[in-house]
Amino acid sequence: YDDPDDAPRDGKKRSNFSEQEAWEEQQIRKSRLQFGSNGGGRAGDGYELVFDTAVDFVKSVVQTGDGEMDELAEAIDTKVALHRELQDERKNLPVYQLKDDLLKAIEEYQVLIIVGETGSGKTTQIPQYLHEAGYTAKGKKIACTQPRRVAAMSVAARVAQEMGVKLGHEVGYSIRFEDCTSEKTVIKYMTDGMLLREFLGEPDLASYSVVIVDEAHERTLSTDILFGLVKDIVRFRPDVKLLISSATLNAEKFSDFFDEAPIFKIPGRRYKVDILYTKAPEANYIKAAVGTILQLHLTEPAGDILLFLTGQEEIETVEETLKEAMRGLASKMPELVICPIYANLPTELQAKIFEPAPEGARKVVLATNIAETSLTIDGIKYVIDPGFCKMKSYNPRTGMESLLRAPISKASADQRAGRSGRTGPGKCYRLFTEFNFRNDLDDDTVPEIQRSNLANVVLRLKALGINDLVNFDFMDPPASESLLKALEELFALGALNRRGELTKTGRRMAEFPLDPMLSKAIVASEKYRCSEEVVTIAAMLSAGNAVFYRPKDKQVHADTAKQAFHVGDVGDHVALLNVYNAWKESGYSPQWCRENFVQSRTMKRARDVRDQLEALLERVEIEPCSGAGDLTAIRKAFTAGYFRNAARRQKDGSYRAVKSHQMVFVHPSSGMAQVLPPWVVYHELVETTKEYMRQVTELKPEWLVEIAPHYYQHKDIDEHETKKMAKGKGRAAM
Ligand code: CDP
Ligand code: MG
Repeated sequence: YDDPDDAPRDGKKRSNFSEQEAWEEQQIRKSRLQFGSNGGGRAGDGYELVFDTAVDFVKSVVQTGDGEMDELAEAIDTKVALHRELQDERKNLPVYQLKDDLLKAIEEYQVLIIVGETGSGKTTQIPQYLHEAGYTAKGKKIACTQPRRVAAMSVAARVAQEMGVKLGHEVGYSIRFEDCTSEKTVIKYMTDGMLLREFLGEPDLASYSVVIVDEAHERTLSTDILFGLVKDIVRFRPDVKLLISSATLNAEKFSDFFDEAPIFKIPGRRYKVDILYTKAPEANYIKAAVGTILQLHLTEPAGDILLFLTGQEEIETVEETLKEAMRGLASKMPELVICPIYANLPTELQAKIFEPAPEGARKVVLATNIAETSLTIDGIKYVIDPGFCKMKSYNPRTGMESLLRAPISKASADQRAGRSGRTGPGKCYRLFTEFNFRNDLDDDTVPEIQRSNLANVVLRLKALGINDLVNFDFMDPPASESLLKALEELFALGALNRRGELTKTGRRMAEFPLDPMLSKAIVASEKYRCSEEVVTIAAMLSAGNAVFYRPKDKQVHADTAKQAFHVGDVGDHVALLNVYNAWKESGYSPQWCRENFVQSRTMKRARDVRDQLEALLERVEIEPCSGAGDLTAIRKAFTAGYFRNAARRQKDGSYRAVKSHQMVFVHPSSGMAQVLPPWVVYHELVETTKEYMRQVTELKPEWLVEIAPHYYQHKDIDEHETKKMAKGKGRAAM
């Protein structure tokens, strides 16, 4: 704001505040801002942008009436103070000491492995250093991948705040179905899956000057595939820098993979952590965890608590139990501030976990694995670790993937414990025995690529023109059985031909950021002339599992409302369509949602997802058309994607998967749970006490042979034959 001409000169200026004075005031503030900022006012630093905000204030002062100047000046001071405080915090992070060395190393080497304790500032600081050092000049961007959506969002928000810019401007994030970036964006946090998708449009990632594969130790499926792809890119793009950043000290493996790339260590700052085990195994770790929290709260000195749980349901249970317990003990206990954090937590609540607890109160964070390394919450002194997490597992024989609760590895347990010793000595309460720890836990978590259905990944790689998957440069190759199964699955979906090459259908499917089965249903909707409906249902399925809610005191009402969407009883997919259309008809009304016990948050998300899917339809040249209530057409389109998930009812009301003969059940939350049609197709299996089918729709068996003749023969759906086969194979399948 060097040009005083920018100052408003119109007649609205304050009467007792001359233009000259206003300008001087601005100059004073400007110099103060420069003085207070990090780096002494180098161009490109965050101060400029704070200054912009200040200028906006001053401008509005000039235009507004008397007496408000003081108030506004105060607001500016607060902003400046906050900014300064943040800059001081930045300088206190371990990585700051090494800033110059780090930049030098990056300058010198094209690929660098960066290792440092969680919370040392890798994720939030390094992209800023690179930005300040000019890596974002000439319109190039810095990419920083995160395995988790919430981490990408929250880290981007933090960095935007540190730089004094609006989230989505210079600093943004990109996650599936949500792009919070703009033309201005130079630091882009994104999920590893999103960067993988970007290869489709830009195979050399030309718009990036630096790619940071962060949280590499997590070894997610997408990160592992990225390793192979970025390794290739650095060979033909000498101008690009690649940083692999990891929290574990076992970085040799990364270095080996990336042709002996040097390892840059950020010395950790970890205080002593006392580890306490239970004497005997805990029968119910939820109860044990709640008990431990309360006891800790009563007896231990100040310091926040972090409890690791496996998912949203557990977190909600603990939250409720704790609240109840606190109500009972209210007068006897200091306040306990409960902060949940998990992937589907609404964005507006996510920031809460970083806020310090009020004076005298103690914060307890209930988190999934996300707090193990992805997010650092300051002030944690006590960690409670039940020793479990949700883990994907894959059975290549049945082709089924499921999310199961499983014991964590020793490496994970140590990471978790370390979260308590960041700012001072900490304590970690393990809700399992020392014997368990030593003898039952694996040393390391098996990389996700070795326990996943690979159909999605194989489709993406094929779409990138990578045909020879057996020789793809994997850090740890998947089992060849899994690769084969994925190829088979894609062939059955018509995405690959007999030679394993991508078909037109496959190319179209790869455009959708969805599971291949769901992408196939969308592509098939062209043939069945119901793309509008199928896209709506796909959006509803992708928006989250919580479409309906069921308040304890209004269960009957809620159930009646839900049942009303099941006109004709053909299945949950059509019910989802009915929900969406009714909501749309209400003018997307939140009031309508409340009246029908529908989660308005899920609906809004479904609408966003739907818009994006519709845009992709256009891209793959599928004309939007409506089947005008032809429920058979809609169900056939889904069957074209999900024919493998066909199941047949047994006498006892259980079902058997048509091909694998696995025993499965209709999930109690399904509208089909009372109907139990003889043949069904389902969206997914969830395993709790049994294998449950979630989102179930009625099917005519002859459709299977009609739609997937290469997969089903008449003998599969024939009464007599099926029984015989079930007898022979069914036992083994159980
Ligand atoms: O990546 P690394 O684990 O090395 O550290 P980081 O995520 O960059 O965190 C550095 C600091 O930023 C920590 O002290 C965090 O508490 C803080 N931070 C924050 O306050 N809010 C966020 N959303 C993310 C980080
Ligand atoms: Mg990090």
